[in-house]
Amino acid sequence: MSTPIISFRDAVKVFPGTRRRPEVRAVDGVTLDIAEGEIFGVIGYSGAGKSTLVRLINALERTTSGSVVVGGRDLTGLSESQLREVRAGIGMIFQQFNLLSSRTVAGNVAYPLEVAKWPKDKREERVRELLEFVGISDKAGTYPAQLSGGQKQRVGIARALAANPRILLADEATSALDPETTREVLRLLQRVNRELGITVVIITHEMDVVRYCCDRVAVMEHGKVAETGDAYSIFSSPTAPITRRFVATSLRDRPSDETLARLRERHPGRLVVVGIDEVTGSTRAITQVFRDQGVEPAVVYGGITEVAGKPYGSLTFEIAGPDDAVAAAIARLRDVTAVDDLGTAAAPAVEPADTEPVETDGRSGPPRTRVIGAQDYGMLGARGARLAGPDPLIIEEDD
Ligand SMILES: Nc1ncnc2c1ncn2[C@@H]1O[C@H](COP(=O)(O)OP(=O)(O)OP(=O)(O)O)[C@@H](O)[C@H]1O
Ligand SMILES: [Mg+2]
Repeated sequence: MSTPIISFRDAVKVFPGTRRRPEVRAVDGVTLDIAEGEIFGVIGYSGAGKSTLVRLINALERTTSGSVVVGGRDLTGLSESQLREVRAGIGMIFQQFNLLSSRTVAGNVAYPLEVAKWPKDKREERVRELLEFVGISDKAGTYPAQLSGGQKQRVGIARALAANPRILLADEATSALDPETTREVLRLLQRVNRELGITVVIITHEMDVVRYCCDRVAVMEHGKVAETGDAYSIFSSPTAPITRRFVATSLRDRPSDETLARLRERHPGRLVVVGIDEVTGSTRAITQVFRDQGVEPAVVYGGITEVAGKPYGSLTFEIAGPDDAVAAAIARLRDVTAVDDLGTAAAPAVEPADTEPVETDGRSGPPRTRVIGAQDYGMLGARGARLAGPDPLIIEEDD
């Protein structure tokens, strides 16, 4: 990995208890490096400590113990004025956009430049350039109330970029947006990263956001990092149970229990879920196995999508043919990819009773055992949109 631009070393943040509520270890011993120039995702359920973790990066919260180093500076011992310097190199965007309603789009983007005492002509030029970059030049004189969510977030991004930060923190920046607008905003964040070379840290509870645009990801649970890795390997071989739940909600390529029941009515034969990946489980390799064994596969369910720009997913086949040929085909498939034999309608295979950590056979390559239980589906569906809370505008804090 290239030089980390952000390093946590055993970082702890405890919010002291009161008479009414116990203390909270919001961040509980996090050690993590974020490399310069990457898009890094932090994913976790509500209350996992994600926002607190990012607020340690710009020192809106101070660590209780451990350290946070940003751009080579250990934040632990810095004075408030030194912290302001560090914060000047960090932009932040929010779920609720946090725009100033009394100012126009241009006025919002100009605000941090006014605070930083840029001369008027330089300010105007910079604002024009930024609005052009985020694609809302035509809205310069419009007030936030007249903008769509996607447009508001573009203003938020332009404002966060105003003073040329090296780091952009995005805390649930797409959580209030519909899926199409989410993609547009994520594409813009990718441009911020690739064209401007800015390190982007994306906080999210949606695995699709990670799948779509993160290079690496940390999965948080109860203030700790449960798992970290590059986006593709997190999807293809998740180890922590929480990671597997997130992956299942994003891919939806495996039949749920209810879907499987319907599939069995239509397809009483041998059902097998086969993992598709870029390493060994290509669809070509799988087709070859079927041909060699002389069995007849029919795709009955599944999906192949892209994770970090590479193919990933699974297909459920009904395999027809003599019993020994079907058994041989399944054995051969296990040599090339992850396989879950569901059995037939008359003799269903016994599902593992739980979602204990994945067993691999110790070899490199994809896991031999399917990792996602149907019971993992829908974990996030019940969680409605939630307000980000009273996060202050950083630029106001510095005021
Ligand atoms: N200022 C505070 N005082 C006391 N407790 C806090 C404070 N800020 C956060 N917490 C607690 O710390 C824990 C982590 O909160 P945090 O906001 O970091 O979670 P999160 O992962 O961002 O959740 P969400 O997805 O809901 O935004 C929660 O239990 C929360 O109630
Ligand atoms: Mg949060």
